[in-house]
Formats: sequence, structure tokens, C-alpha cells
Amino acid sequence: MSEIFSATVSAPTNIACIKYWGKASIPLNTPINDSVSVTLHQKDLKAVTTASCSASFKEDKLWLNGIPVSLEGNKRFYSCLNGVRALAKEKGKFDGMKVHVSSYNTFPTAAGLASSAAGYAALTFAFKELFDAKEDYEGQLSTIARQGSGSACRSLYGGFVAWRKGNDPYNNGEDSMAVQIAPESHWPEIRALILVVSDKKKDTSSTKGMSTSVATSKLLAHRADSIVAKRMEDIEKAYLRKDFESFGKITMMDSNQFHATCLDTYPPIFYMNDISKGVIQLIHKYNEFCGEIRAAYTFDAGPNAVLYTLEKYQIEILALVLHCYPCSDKSAFVSNSNLAEEARAFKLSDELVDLVAVNHASVGDVKVVYCTESGPGPLRLDDKESLIDLVTGDNLYNS
Ligand code: DP6
Repeated sequence: MSEIFSATVSAPTNIACIKYWGKASIPLNTPINDSVSVTLHQKDLKAVTTASCSASFKEDKLWLNGIPVSLEGNKRFYSCLNGVRALAKEKGKFDGMKVHVSSYNTFPTAAGLASSAAGYAALTFAFKELFDAKEDYEGQLSTIARQGSGSACRSLYGGFVAWRKGNDPYNNGEDSMAVQIAPESHWPEIRALILVVSDKKKDTSSTKGMSTSVATSKLLAHRADSIVAKRMEDIEKAYLRKDFESFGKITMMDSNQFHATCLDTYPPIFYMNDISKGVIQLIHKYNEFCGEIRAAYTFDAGPNAVLYTLEKYQIEILALVLHCYPCSDKSAFVSNSNLAEEARAFKLSDELVDLVAVNHASVGDVKVVYCTESGPGPLRLDDKESLIDLVTGDNLYNS
């Protein structure tokens, strides 16, 4: 057996405040508009990936959550592999070697949370570490992760991260890349509550949904041409001056507009369900009651709600969520048991309780609540955490 080279990394997910929806070029996977997101901390949600290569490996192999997956015709995977290998510092050292990759994520499948951003960010970063790749220009790696999944490019950085669509997204993807607006240390008080909402229907994949939207929605074209640029400018400024009122308002308006473009798609796409809409009403009532924006909702291509707030309001909002969304299993309902305990002991104002009396949902409408915050980009892990046996090249991970 020849030497096995390897690298193990973890990468975060991100939740957009200004949404990416619509591709300018399908082969390049470039977007029709800029987008921006908060990178979430990896303590709860992350993808972990080991990439290895050796002259002894006979074929490329991939295991996802311990299960072997065929790589035949997997354009996204090979764009990442070939893109990063071409940047290896020692030219030619790894050429021709087959790779063995094993990856898992901590996103419970049943939760329906998107994991492609974390998955492709982890894959790209694992190849970077494996091949000791060096960018020719800053942001180049994110242009490679983008070809795995658009939103993955933003997961290569921590904090608040924009994806610039690039100057020529129709012919050249070189500058369609992620740029860090502020590291996670800039606004450490930002918190995210993820409400995993029950969903019985099958959803439309982002890739398919956005292609129908581009083909049929005039509202989407208008959004890309006339709305997003100003919103990007405003939300970046708001984030930098830690102005939650503006940050929250723009975030909610952009989520609403994204879902309006889904309704304007023909045939229409419905990602939010009645439970999602109930969360929207609840948050507006809460903000109105407070006389300011203390919580902002946003929804991706599914019914789960992500609420952004600040540390000082987190317990009150969690208490409100626990009050309106009864659960069957208290111990498993909130990811962080200390916060759950504090929220259960928190006394909501009687006036607020009266105001939201009609917002009481059924048991199980919200299945789990993750309480998290902003965090760093991908991290290199110790070889002890390898998901590949570094002697035999076999997968070690079993879910
Ligand atoms: C609604 O990045 O999953 O979450 O590039 O086709 O892989 P592909 O799409 P993907 O789309 C994410 C869409 C979104 C908005 C966002 O994250 O900006």
C-alpha cells in the first residue's frame, strides 16, 4: 500500500438574510443576484468530512453518513475535486491519484434542514487541506465550493458573508465569490433560533425550483434587477453598525419577497406551510408589542423558521415559542437544555400572553428548536477524527 494522504475538516451551514434564488448560468452555477447570510456555529449543526488520496486507491469512493454513494456523473463533486487539485502547491504531486471521501452531517434527516451548504463547504475545504492548495486570488476557493452548491460558497467564512454574483456571471464565474463582511466576533450578540416545523409534503429541490422561477416569474427578474442591490447595501451597513432594527426588517422583507417569487412561479411553489405562516404572525405581534424589532424570521426552501435575535431577547423569545408551540417530549425539544430551563422559568407579560392567545398551535407543529449563534468558517480537525482508516483507506464512519 502506498502512502495515504488525508485531511479531516468540519464546516458550518449558513442562513441567508438576502436570498439567492435563480441561476444566471447553470453550468457555472452563478446567481442572478447577490446574497448575504449569517454563518451558524458548528456546535449544533455541521458537516464533517475526511478526504484522502493514495496511489494505491483503485477508484474514487464517497460515503455519505456511512453509506457508499456512486460518483458516476456527479458533476458537483468533480468540480470541487478537480478545481481544488489544480491549485495544489506542489504541482503534479497528487495527479492521477484516486480519492476516498467520507462525510457526515449532524443535521437530523427528519428535520429537513438543508445540509448542502455545509456539505460542499466541507468537501472543498477538505480537498484544500489534503492537496495543500493555495488560492491564486482571495475568494477563489469559494468559486469552487459554489460549483458544488451555490449557498456553500458563503459557508467558507464565519460571521456575516456576502456572495457577489460577479461581473460576468453568464460567461465567467471567476469573480462570483463569497466575501466576508464581518467576522463572527463583530456582533457576538446575534442569536439564531431554528424552529423545525413538521412537514408532511415532499418539497421541490432548490435547483429545480429556481430554474422554474427564472423561466416564469417576472417578479423574480424585477427583484434581481431593481431590489436586491439596495437591500444588500442597506443590510451590510446595518450589520456593521449593529442596527438590529434595520437588519431584522430587511431580513423579513427579503424572506417574504423570496416566497412571493415562489408563488409567482408558474406552476407555483409553496415552501412555507400554515405553521410557518403562524410563526410569521407571532413574530410580527411580538415586535409590535415590544415597539421595536427584536426578532426577525426567515425561511429557505422549506417550512422551517429561522429567527434571528439578540442575546438579551433570546430567553423571552424562546419562552414565547415554548408557550405557543407545545411539545410532547420536553427533554428533546430544545437543543440547549440550560436555555430551555431559563425560558421555562421566564414569566411572559400577561398582556403579551393575551395578545398571542389565538396563536396556540397543536402539539408537534414545531418538532425541535435549535438555539445557536454565529460562528467561524471551516476548521481543520485532528487525524484522530478521521472518517477514513488511514491504513486501509476504508470508511470508518457508521451512523
Ligand atoms: C433558498 O444553494 O441549495 O436557501 O446552488 O442549486 O445547490 P444550488 O442551490 P442552493 O440554494 C439555496 C437557496 C436558499 C437561499 C440561500 O441560501 O441564499
